[in-house]
Amino acid sequence: MKILGIETSCDETALALLEITGPEAQPRFKVLGEIVHSQITHHAPFGGVVPSLAKREHIKNLPILLDTLLTETGENPEKPGIDYLAVTQGPGLEPALWTGITFAEKLTKRWGIPLIAANHMEGHIVASLLPSHLDLKTQNGTLRQLSFPALALLISGGHTELVHIPQWGDYKIIGSTRDDAVGEAFDKVARLLELPYPGGPEISRLASLDRERRIKGGTWNLPRPMLKSKDFDFSFSGLKTAVLYTIRDLDKTTHPLWKEQIAREFEDAVTECLIEKTKNAISAYTARTLIVGGGVIANTYIRQKLTDLGQEFDIPVLFPTQALSTDNALMIALAGYFNRTKATFSPSIVAQGNLKLSS
Ligand code: KG4
Ligand code: ZN
Repeated sequence: MKILGIETSCDETALALLEITGPEAQPRFKVLGEIVHSQITHHAPFGGVVPSLAKREHIKNLPILLDTLLTETGENPEKPGIDYLAVTQGPGLEPALWTGITFAEKLTKRWGIPLIAANHMEGHIVASLLPSHLDLKTQNGTLRQLSFPALALLISGGHTELVHIPQWGDYKIIGSTRDDAVGEAFDKVARLLELPYPGGPEISRLASLDRERRIKGGTWNLPRPMLKSKDFDFSFSGLKTAVLYTIRDLDKTTHPLWKEQIAREFEDAVTECLIEKTKNAISAYTARTLIVGGGVIANTYIRQKLTDLGQEFDIPVLFPTQALSTDNALMIALAGYFNRTKATFSPSIVAQGNLKLSS
């Protein structure tokens, strides 16, 4: 079985062709082709993703990328040997989501192939099940096994969620951010530190420089919002405001390394909040596996602390491979695979910017 995944929820136009072979109980997965086209250079001058610009770029790029993918995988563009199409329905930027949906619906009609609506966050969860990219490209890989109940921590530019997963396909959001998402907080604080967009990688680079230089941080004591609250929710906008005031009141001549130091203190504060709530959730739901997903997972410090947390509880922590941490279409094809019974030849998918995970 071959599934073509289409992802346009934010600023990446992505297509992937995933092949699934073998018996249903022990499927094997192979990446036949994949393309991720980042629009980051278009959005960077604006300091964030501009929805109308993202839409225009997706519309322009989708047909070009599809042509390339079909050529690379030796598929006939008139009648390819593809069994299912899977497209991101949400969450994401609606103008961007619509471009992928409209494109996928046209392909369904043209090729007579059924279409599956995929949830982007489910994509980030299932991405952790895929083995190394090398395995997926050179041979048929089996999915990583996991024990239930599982807990997923999803941290991206648009989301911060803790999800209780009693079994596959059953998702209960037990905690989320009350305001900014983690990646959004990284990006906003980066702007305050006059760093380029996207801010996450830059903050993390500066923070690690400071950690190499000083064992302990704590010069400015940034807050840890909601750290002790009894729920599993997060809040990051107060932390961002605290950074704003710290910079405003700062004597830069006595703190020449202020950017590195603030970056480190901010990363420490965010990480502490993420770890504390994840730890509480693992205990409360006796989770037997921790799954982590979303672009912020590229952050080495957060990754290390989550690995330590897994060791503390003696449970495995599943991270997606580096290539699958950020937005991609392979995770959408895989989410499609899990939802293939919902495929339809007459789709009328409505983009949902706030689409939630559900059972
Ligand atoms: O999942 P993703 O690629 O797109 C969304 O669906 O949002 O996540 C992008 C987010 C951006 O906010 C970016 O700043 C953040 O992930 N990010 C990081 C790092 N690399 C990317 N945040 C912290 N540390 C990083 N190293
Ligand atoms: Zn994402």
